[in-house]
Amino acid sequence: MTNEPAIEMTAPPDVYQQRRARLAAAIRRPLVIFAGHAPARNYSTNPHPFRAGSSYLYFGGPPLENAALLIEPRSDGDNGCTLLRPPMGPDDPLWFGEVPSDEALSEAAGLRRDGVADSDRLGALLAGRQAASVVPPYPDTLAWAAQLGLAKADDDELLAIIHQRLIKDEHELAAMRQAAEICMEGHRAALAATGRGQREADVAAAFLAVLVANGCEPSFNPIITVRGEVLHGQGYPNLMPNGALLLCDAGPEEPGGYASDITRTWPVSGKWTPIQRHLYNTTLRALKEATAACAPGRRYRDVHDLSARVICEGLVEAELLRGDPAELAARIAHALFYPHGVGHLIGLDAHDMEDFGDLAGYAAGRTRRPEFGNKSLRLDRDLQPGMAVTIEPGIYLVPAIWARDDLVKPLADVVNRPKVDALLKDHIGGIRLEDTICVRDTGGPEVLSEALPTDADAVAACVGVSR
Ligand code: GLY
Repeated sequence: MTNEPAIEMTAPPDVYQQRRARLAAAIRRPLVIFAGHAPARNYSTNPHPFRAGSSYLYFGGPPLENAALLIEPRSDGDNGCTLLRPPMGPDDPLWFGEVPSDEALSEAAGLRRDGVADSDRLGALLAGRQAASVVPPYPDTLAWAAQLGLAKADDDELLAIIHQRLIKDEHELAAMRQAAEICMEGHRAALAATGRGQREADVAAAFLAVLVANGCEPSFNPIITVRGEVLHGQGYPNLMPNGALLLCDAGPEEPGGYASDITRTWPVSGKWTPIQRHLYNTTLRALKEATAACAPGRRYRDVHDLSARVICEGLVEAELLRGDPAELAARIAHALFYPHGVGHLIGLDAHDMEDFGDLAGYAAGRTRRPEFGNKSLRLDRDLQPGMAVTIEPGIYLVPAIWARDDLVKPLADVVNRPKVDALLKDHIGGIRLEDTICVRDTGGPEVLSEALPTDADAVAACVGVSR
């Protein structure tokens, strides 16, 4: 048995070389992409789990704390690229175990043997030169980049990264399918635990147990709550009363860092009330129609607007809104019930590349619409084969919205306020349904989370059922 640990990589070495070569062809100055480090709790050897920066991973950086990739302009992805690794202290193996050798690292990253150097050489390699950096938001790494005098990568440099990362290759998709499988197993465990436990925390524990058993971390703090109207609720403090809906928006990232993000909502008792069922089926129709619309060339903003119209149809059927659904959607009346966007990019993060702001999510020349609801749309690009996105419409009864005159008064003529107030009084909460999909050339998108039921009766039948 060797002491050398395995190196977790998603793609074969030549793929990383090709990615770096494409990036090198688009840049004019050296680019340093940092891995970051594990933030410490109260002292450095009591850290949170380490997760390397996503761009560093994408371009072939092995998951090593305080490492960096240096990519020179016009590099072929090997010559002109260097992996800077932190030097080992003599006591490090005692506390942290062995680390991979330079040979193993260079092989995994697709670099020649002398393409691995100690990170304290980075300053000398860049001395007297203008260079740019991509730095994950970890204090020590930011300080290191600042000490080296590195500029932040400019928009052209970031776009060279973004345009590659937008389109998922077969290795990335395989990792995302694996993440989706584990995510669906977690959701099934959560559905089963709903019947056995009495607290949100019981359900969260069941979901997280599946992740831990599969060597995964959550891709974001799981949202598991009977207060689904709190869009990004944190913590699991509540009991789950009979009659409530439980919203479970949760996903893992698999060991290579690729994320899944799935939401299902179900009745705690396994039985829908008529209004819950109607609002659920409306959300489901929006999910299905928006998903089917995700074809190459389709503008994602139009997919959002389509989902808004379907939500308006269901709200009119429920007599919560009055009028023509298309006109209601044009007035953004749905945002009183559906105040967020239809989804976001997903990949090496649940919100892929949102660290680059709207440069990643918005195509050149496009900006966010300013209105309540519309302004929360995170993505407005034309879809292309290989783009992975989420589709996640919802319907919520949010007291904080209905308390706001600036939002409600302009739409008072189309709102059935007594019925809204009755639902608020009943704490109907929130319903969201979310799948992770990948756009394909033909035949509609691949729905990575398709095997997890969405049909109202099929979902309810899973509540409390152990496999
Ligand atoms: N599904 C969690 C999020 O979109 O932020």
